Amino acid sequence: MKYQCPKGLFDILPYGTEEKWQLSYYWQILEDKLKKLAHLFGFKELRTPIFEHTELFSRSVGETSDIVTKEMYTFFDKANRSITLRPEGTASILRAFIEKNMHQLRRVHKFFYLGPMFRYERPQAGRFRQLHQFGIETLGPSSLSRDAETLDLLYETLHQFGIEATIVINSIGDKACREKYKNALVNYFKPIAGDLSPESQARLDKNPLRILDSKSVQDQPFIKNAPSILDFLSSNDQKEFEELQQILTKMKIPFLVDHNLVRGLDYYDRLVFEMRSENLGAQNAVGGGGRYTDLISDLGGPSLPGIGFAIGLERMLQVVIAKDLQLSDQFVPFYYLVPLGEEAKEKALLLATDLRKAQIPVDIDLDSKKVGQALKNGDLLQANFAVIIGEEELMTRKAKLKNLLSREQIEIDFSTLTQNLKRIWEDAKL
Ligand code: HAM
Repeated sequence: MKYQCPKGLFDILPYGTEEKWQLSYYWQILEDKLKKLAHLFGFKELRTPIFEHTELFSRSVGETSDIVTKEMYTFFDKANRSITLRPEGTASILRAFIEKNMHQLRRVHKFFYLGPMFRYERPQAGRFRQLHQFGIETLGPSSLSRDAETLDLLYETLHQFGIEATIVINSIGDKACREKYKNALVNYFKPIAGDLSPESQARLDKNPLRILDSKSVQDQPFIKNAPSILDFLSSNDQKEFEELQQILTKMKIPFLVDHNLVRGLDYYDRLVFEMRSENLGAQNAVGGGGRYTDLISDLGGPSLPGIGFAIGLERMLQVVIAKDLQLSDQFVPFYYLVPLGEEAKEKALLLATDLRKAQIPVDIDLDSKKVGQALKNGDLLQANFAVIIGEEELMTRKAKLKNLLSREQIEIDFSTLTQNLKRIWEDAKL
């Protein structure tokens, strides 16, 4: 039997894949940059386990949401507890926050997280069953400045990677306004239910707001004429939403308003947003988020609002790579050591240790019997230089340093080898 990666999953490999976005060094660079950016904005990492009690997600993400009704990886453990692989990060962050009474420690909490999430969705381009998210959550008194800071970080994230994506924003009001709006939508869609796509028909009873999110061509004319949330927002929420737009304009953060933007998770109120890219096809959301006022208290915590977003790393990398961005070449060995024979191997091992202590990336060929074969290996690894120590070199006490690009070669005396190799590395980094 030939084992295969389960459907909707993929490996992140150092080489051996045609898909550039599946190369591990792109992931490492992306994750590094995202962590640095989060720290720049004052966010601290909070890591949670990848599974939780199922109830946490049904309570927060919402009983009627697609995630909870169709997409969770839920199983019973040996003690018959219902366990779910996390489909998203927000609920787990809040669980940890509440469990550790962290609200007593300071007034505002800014967390970020990075890691795999699991959703049993129909796999297609840009949609996976194990996906990776970078997310942030700010817990503390809500304000327009806080909303603007959150959108600024989202914008900066795009900007740093040269991504042309659009930030789309909407206000979905508070609970009371949303109830009225839901009724209006049901009254509007009910008489024409037969003309809607089967998916939207199913949503009519359970989650009518989500019909607005339908991608089906059949639904579009009806969605276009549906009542607008704008007519249901309280005057206060309307005013806030307009003020936020003014702040964003002043901060030079480009955005679009889409009153049909509703999110697939139930915990949001007022501000919701998404970041969309033209380069992604149907699954065009690179990231999304919004405000949540009651989620922390609903989960048994203090009455404290929050705001956050998450970005899908697969989609982000695909956009970055589609733009043909050179991320970096820092993941190749600078020196490839080629010792031939036992005595040379010992010498090369000691040399590798010295160079690595000086933070110089070094790899060593301990298997090749011939120089030609070893140089091919060095080329494959894209090393900059090969350092050859064979029988002849041991006799003359001079190593050969070969530039693997130009193929030029010089000799360096053993007595100054480490010192010279360090200098060449330093010069190359200038
Ligand atoms: P979400 O919109 O469900 O929000 O997911 C955020 C991002 O994760 C999406 O925009 C997309 O890029 C990526 N994503 C979601 N599902 C998949 C999938 N099956 N395959 C590939 N990528 C996917 C949340 O998860 C919220 N927790 C965000 C949030 C944080 N809201 C407040 N705080």
